[in-house]
Amino acid sequence: MTRVLLVCLGNICRSPTAEGVLRARLAQAGLEHRVELDSAGTAGWHQGKSPDSRSQAAAARRGYDLSPLRARQVIAADFDHYDHIYAMDANNLADLRAICPAHAEGKLSLFLALIPGADCLEVPDPYYGGGEGFERVLDLCEQASDAFIAGFQRRHG
Ligand code: 4NP
Repeated sequence: MTRVLLVCLGNICRSPTAEGVLRARLAQAGLEHRVELDSAGTAGWHQGKSPDSRSQAAAARRGYDLSPLRARQVIAADFDHYDHIYAMDANNLADLRAICPAHAEGKLSLFLALIPGADCLEVPDPYYGGGEGFERVLDLCEQASDAFIAGFQRRHG
């Protein structure tokens, strides 16, 4: 079992979108029992809340159901439990590095760095912007999820 944690700031827009997209793509690839998946926020402001209604609506239009997800904050035990901890942007990565034990630092990386030759390494925070920001988050999460699955299949067959 490979354990993956997806991390943004609030865990109500980007990382739940990433979780919903990656979960659906893993199921399509028949890998849902080989990858354990969760998402979390570096901040705890939205703890227990459903994903942002704009994220849920945009995801639902592409067939992803984010409604069962609930926000939570990253906890110390995450750095031991997960094998890969993917940050949505450079601030999230810096915030994770600041609380990550030294032995687990190798688990941290940017989610979009999975995309070969990625021209953009950060998922822009859509929270204060317009609707197109949520579509962009979905586009990027789909690309990174497909890249994760391709890499997983190469490593694990
Ligand atoms: P997320 O977006 O990190 O993608 O979940 C945000 C959600 C909430 C806030 C900022 C970003 N906020 O400031 O409350």
